[in-house]
Amino acid sequence: MAKKKSIFECQSCGFQSSRWIGKCTSCGGWDSMIELSGEQVKFLEETKKISKNISSKAQSIMDIKEDNVTRFSSYSSELDLVLGGGIVSGSLTLIGGSPGIGKSTLLLKIAGNLASNDKRVLYVSGEESNGQIKLRADRLNANERELYLLSEINLSSVINEVNNTRYDFLIIDSIQTLYNDDIPSAPGSVTQVRSITFELMRVAKSMGIAIFIIGHITKDGSIAGPRVLEHMVDVVLYFEGDSNSELRLLRGIKNRFGSTNEVGIFEMSRRGLNDAKSIAGRFFNKDKLLSGSALTVIMEGSRPIVIEIQALVTDAQGYPKRSSTGFDNNRLVMLLALLEKKLELPFSTVDVFINVSGGIKITEPSADIAIIASILSSYRDREISSKSVFMGEVSLTGEIIEVSGLMQRLKELETQGFTTAVVPNKPIEDTSIKCFVANEVSKVVEWM
Ligand code: TYD
Ligand code: MG
Repeated sequence: MAKKKSIFECQSCGFQSSRWIGKCTSCGGWDSMIELSGEQVKFLEETKKISKNISSKAQSIMDIKEDNVTRFSSYSSELDLVLGGGIVSGSLTLIGGSPGIGKSTLLLKIAGNLASNDKRVLYVSGEESNGQIKLRADRLNANERELYLLSEINLSSVINEVNNTRYDFLIIDSIQTLYNDDIPSAPGSVTQVRSITFELMRVAKSMGIAIFIIGHITKDGSIAGPRVLEHMVDVVLYFEGDSNSELRLLRGIKNRFGSTNEVGIFEMSRRGLNDAKSIAGRFFNKDKLLSGSALTVIMEGSRPIVIEIQALVTDAQGYPKRSSTGFDNNRLVMLLALLEKKLELPFSTVDVFINVSGGIKITEPSADIAIIASILSSYRDREISSKSVFMGEVSLTGEIIEVSGLMQRLKELETQGFTTAVVPNKPIEDTSIKCFVANEVSKVVEWM
């Protein structure tokens, strides 16, 4: 008799191997491989067979009709912005974020908004009882006749409910607590998460229901079964933010119906997570900057935001440390190497720590010279004026490269009452901001 084939699967990234390995070769996780049972292997083989048996014929693009995308508003302008203009019927969206950041709060509020506007909404929670959700809904002012709650962890009961009653919008809180009883592994495992997402995708497409799935992020920053989920769903949104600040950012990572440029900005209050009213001046100390702080303007989608960068430079005890929160650590190492080479500063004997205010993660290179300015300010223990702002990307040769949308950034500075800016090139239009052009790193230092 032929020997039964074993399959081992990594529980954090879904990588499969025919033998057990201690360290996953795909994601580097230790002790994360488990052997799939006979039924799981059968399930995998069947899904493979299904995809093999479908025979389809190619069509000329000229003969194909466009799909109609129907959108409806979530009645939150920030969420609509990130989604690219509203919720798409029949779409599957994943909202990820660390525990306590406000995923349930935001979606319960959206559920209330939709229910008060002729949509029938089902909120499925495997984490809280109906009574607990009701208590929260009271605070959020989300008590609506058309909002239905279901406290359930079994996927087939959820699908049953959706089959029996027509809903427009479904929320799953959270994917990690739901389980499919056809599959023997534990809730939250890659196999479970994948099969549930697959089922929900089918429900969304076949019934035209918009589904939002909440997913918790593990401590290394990925949703359990991360890639498995991301490529299956239509839209992926992640919450960012600092639990000490009331501002939360919702960033689009993937969107099959629009761009992923935009970021939604929300504000946590006693009445839930609402659209942030004004973001000007919320990410820095307006009155005075201490030594080690420098300001920059980053573009978050179509919006310029002034943020504060803080640096701490201290004598190293042993091997020098470089650590940053909200900024790419490799880029920090590169900037330090450049400072050492161009300015002959002894950075190999100091520890450098960087922090970006408000829990923002910088994803564009225009903050480079602000990082340099904050490092120099801390190194020399000298404050920078709180009326000046730094913008520019640094190249490996020490040149400062243009930033996109410079005029838009400068306009934002005008409205916020700033007076000076260090920029890579002369602005094309008139501005009341006094611009100091720095085209190489040593010029930034000259200015400080
Ligand atoms: P929650 O939505 O439960 O987080 P998640 O679902 O992402 O785990 O958010 C919980 C936090 O939000 C909790 O620390 C309390 C706070 N909160 C408020 O500040 N105001 C409110 O009106 C609500 C409902 C929650
Ligand atoms: Mg929650």
